[in-house]
Amino acid sequence: MEKLIDGIYVKTYGKATNQPVVFIHGFPFEHTLYNNVIDEFKNVYYCISYDIRGFGNSKLNSAQCTIESYTEDLESVILRLKLDKPIICGFSMGGYIALRANEKLQKNYKALILANTTSSSDSDEAKLKRSAAISDIDAKGIEPFIDKFLLVAFSEDFIKKESLKIEEIKNTIMNSSSIGIKGALLAMASRVDTTKSLKDIDIPVLLISAENDKIISPDIMAQMANSIKKSTLVCLSGSGHMSMLEKPDEFNTALRRFLETL
Ligand code: MLT
Repeated sequence: MEKLIDGIYVKTYGKATNQPVVFIHGFPFEHTLYNNVIDEFKNVYYCISYDIRGFGNSKLNSAQCTIESYTEDLESVILRLKLDKPIICGFSMGGYIALRANEKLQKNYKALILANTTSSSDSDEAKLKRSAAISDIDAKGIEPFIDKFLLVAFSEDFIKKESLKIEEIKNTIMNSSSIGIKGALLAMASRVDTTKSLKDIDIPVLLISAENDKIISPDIMAQMANSIKKSTLVCLSGSGHMSMLEKPDEFNTALRRFLETL
C-alpha cells in the first residue's frame, strides 16, 4: 500500500499484524533500493519503506535538511503507522538516521540492522569534499556527480560485469532533484557522531559490511560491532558499498539468519 505521511511517501508490504521492519535507504537512492530485500521478507514481516525527504516522491519542506529532520520524519512514519517495536534497517545514510533515532528512542525499537554505515561523523576532509560536490552540482548539474559516485559505490568487478544494471541504477538516481541531493550532502556533513552511544545499545544489532566497500571500510564496522553488546557482524566478500544490489542473496541470508534469532 502507498501512503503520504506529512509529505513522506511510504510503501507498506504484507500484513500489519506481522513484526514491522522499517527500511531506510541510502544516498542518493529512494525506497526501491530495498525491492529485492522486501520481496524476500514481505510474507513473514510487515515491511515498510519510504523515500527520505527530497528523494523519490517525498517532497522537501525546505532545502535545509539535517539528519535530525530526517530522523523526525522516521519517527512520524512510525507513529502514524502505529508500529509497535519495529526493527529498523538503515543502509549507509539510512544508517546515520537509524543510529541517531536509536540514540533518542532505543526503547521503542526491537532491533537494528546497520548496513554499510558508520557512527562516525564526517572528517574535515570529507566535509570539504561534500562542499566541493555541491559546487560541482551547481556548475554542471547532477550527472557528473552521479557518474563519479557510482564508480566509488560499486566494486570494480560489478562495474565491469553489470554495466546494464549500473545504467538502470543511474537512470533511477537521475530522477533525484539537485536540491534533494545537495540537502542530503549538507545533512551528512553536519551530522553528529553517534559513536559514544554504541556502548549503550541494549537491543540486538546486525552489522553488514562489505569487503570492497570504498565508502565505509569493513574495519570501521568491525570496530562498531566491538562496541555494541549484542552485535552480529557479517562481512560480504567481494562486494562494494552497495551490498544489497551487488550480493542480494548473501545480504538476504544475513538478514534472515539474524531475524530468526529475535
Ligand atoms: C550513502 O551510501 O548513503 C552515502 O554514500 C554515505 C555517505 O556519503 O556518507
